[in-house]
Amino acid sequence: MNFAEIEKVEDEFQVATYKKMGIAIERGRGSWVWTSEGDRYLDLYGGHAVCATGHSHPHVVQALKDQADKVLFYSNLVYSEIRARAAEKLVSVAPAPLTKAFFCNSGTEANENAMRMARMATGREKVISFEGGFHGRTSDAISATFLGKYRDIGKPNVPGHVSAVFGDIDSVRSVADSDTAAIIVEPIQSMAGVREASLQFFVELHKCCDELGIMLIFDEVQTGIGRTGSWFFSGSDLAGGITPDIITLAKSLGSGVPVGACLVTDAVSANIKLNDLGTTFGGGMLAMSAVLATLEAIESGDMIANAKAIELYLREALDGAAGVTAVLGKGCLLGIRFDGPCAAAHEQLLESGIITGTSSDPNVLRLLPPLNVARDEIDLLVEVLVNG
Ligand SMILES: Cc1ncc(COP(=O)(O)O)c(C=O)c1O
Repeated sequence: MNFAEIEKVEDEFQVATYKKMGIAIERGRGSWVWTSEGDRYLDLYGGHAVCATGHSHPHVVQALKDQADKVLFYSNLVYSEIRARAAEKLVSVAPAPLTKAFFCNSGTEANENAMRMARMATGREKVISFEGGFHGRTSDAISATFLGKYRDIGKPNVPGHVSAVFGDIDSVRSVADSDTAAIIVEPIQSMAGVREASLQFFVELHKCCDELGIMLIFDEVQTGIGRTGSWFFSGSDLAGGITPDIITLAKSLGSGVPVGACLVTDAVSANIKLNDLGTTFGGGMLAMSAVLATLEAIESGDMIANAKAIELYLREALDGAAGVTAVLGKGCLLGIRFDGPCAAAHEQLLESGIITGTSSDPNVLRLLPPLNVARDEIDLLVEVLVNG
């Protein structure tokens, strides 16, 4: 099929809920994708923050092929070596107090389960989240999403959700109390325009949760799995070394195979009884082989160090660039703030063969490239932004 045919059939047989670029992707390798028309694009959006190891990383592809040859799926009613190895590996890279994984299928589902576990651990119902945060589109997660129109499209909202101002501990303390089960926070608010809070805020947030017996949840669906220059934002210098009670993950975790997870402490896990949580597909063998291979590929490719280096490289390259007022974010979760709307730059980059992302801040262009993106690939972006 050529592009016109693909577009016509997709649009005819799918609900029109996504604003799409006018290209159809046929294959990908590393930071590059090729379209139905044979055109090549540099993907600095990583397939929507998903392809941390690059498109179709050979180690991940091989692991999936090997697993597919053995067995595609069996549920959690049985044990599985690949699930055992994936869980062990994931916990081994997590900050120390997080010792157990619960596997599901997406980011929103990880957040639903995280909030449920927090309610089970505390016997309380109220959940605090932040203006500008995004946590997904299922009922509880969308009720915790105080960004733009999302809570409205999720009505009726789950009761007991309140918001605080991101980065403002006084605002948190004004709503936190002994009825609060959880505080859920996206450590870098990606969709809101790569908004960051101070290290001190995270330290204070942790202290507030400790004092009031509140479970702290870091939604690391975007920041996790090496993206911000360490395996997790939690426990890193960026968080002042503090670790939450629960981390939620998805996106990069399976290099493109749908998978989500919660990482929890022993204390949280101790409150979960048989059949309290569950999902048919969570922990399926194919997804688990993707998780294990993704973590291995990141480690063996030294991709986390690269993500850190790329941030510094881009900051230097765009220093003083006309129209650019700031480079935001960490590692390979970056925002370029322009002195006006970024829509024209986004379009111009696409016309030049470079895929980037927008955000809900009209002036902020988002980059979520593979963690192994190369400097000369970043040069191609800089060239267009600086020289047009
Ligand atoms: C921070 C964050 N949390 C949760 C989600 C929801 O993840 P999913 O789309 O896999 O349900 C997203 C998706 O963009 C996200 O960015």
